[in-house]
Amino acid sequence: MSDSKQLGLSTDLSGQIAMVTGASQGLGKACAERLAGCGATVICVARNAAKLGDTVSAIESAGGQAVALPCDVGSRESVQALFAEVDSKYGKLDILVNNAGITRDTLLPRMTDEQWDDVIQTNLTSCFLFCREASKMMMSARYGRIINMSSVSGLIGNPGQTNYSASKAGMIGLTRSLARELGKRKITINAVAPGFIASDMTDALGDDMLKEVKKRIPANRLGQADDVAAAVVFLASAGASYITGQVLTVDGGMTC
Ligand SMILES: NC(=O)c1ccc[n+]([C@@H]2O[C@H](COP(=O)([O-])OP(=O)(O)OC[C@H]3O[C@@H](n4cnc5c(N)ncnc54)[C@H](O)[C@@H]3O)[C@@H](O)[C@H]2O)c1
Repeated sequence: MSDSKQLGLSTDLSGQIAMVTGASQGLGKACAERLAGCGATVICVARNAAKLGDTVSAIESAGGQAVALPCDVGSRESVQALFAEVDSKYGKLDILVNNAGITRDTLLPRMTDEQWDDVIQTNLTSCFLFCREASKMMMSARYGRIINMSSVSGLIGNPGQTNYSASKAGMIGLTRSLARELGKRKITINAVAPGFIASDMTDALGDDMLKEVKKRIPANRLGQADDVAAAVVFLASAGASYITGQVLTVDGGMTC
């Protein structure tokens, strides 16, 4: 059974070209795999070519189509070169998932300029660069779906993450404004805000800490990468055509 049928939604993305940044691991890899499982050809973007190759191999072994295009998402030159290649190879981009992101956590009085700049450049400036290039292609096609990976830290803040929270809140502002610019052209742009998602980092938390974390989550469990990928696929699907400028929180109810 295809992923679209398992979801119980009309998520057939056959013939569509999707791009996922940060697709070498974690949430980005899960999104790339899900989108490919629904029939899209997925352009997998990150810096590490070898790890991107693993994502592409996983997609191809499952019968999907994907290509790896390494790129530093914070570099204007790299992003422009990437989109020139996509334009000449495919001539269109239907779905963009801006997922690449980093953290450089520390309390504000100790935060260096470099920690601030790195996080804003990689998380927020990259989102601007990708949205700018993608929106040009999508405007001429009069179709597009953009999904920006924000975070609950961008909604409610988190101590030690002023840089990260500012970048993720910035992505939400960008999403809402761009939705107003592009709405008439059948281009939707939404944000997904994951909460605590199981990862190498959460695995290292220890049982006592995990128990405390779960107490704050009504669903009483950590999220899985696939919980987030399912939300992304929904926003990319035909059924989400009247949803734009929204933030879909995927946090087991933590911020409700
Ligand atoms: N994991 C969580 O619990 C969680 C919660 C909320 C939001 N998020 C957001 O989801 C996204 C993915 O998180 P994750 O946990 O899978 O992260 P991760 O660290 O596992 O993966 C990040 C990806 O981004 C890529 N990347 C980082 N900097 C890059 C650059 N300059 N150029 C190109 N690629 C770059 C990495 O190569 C990697 O593929 C991030 O934006 C993160 O802020 C994650």
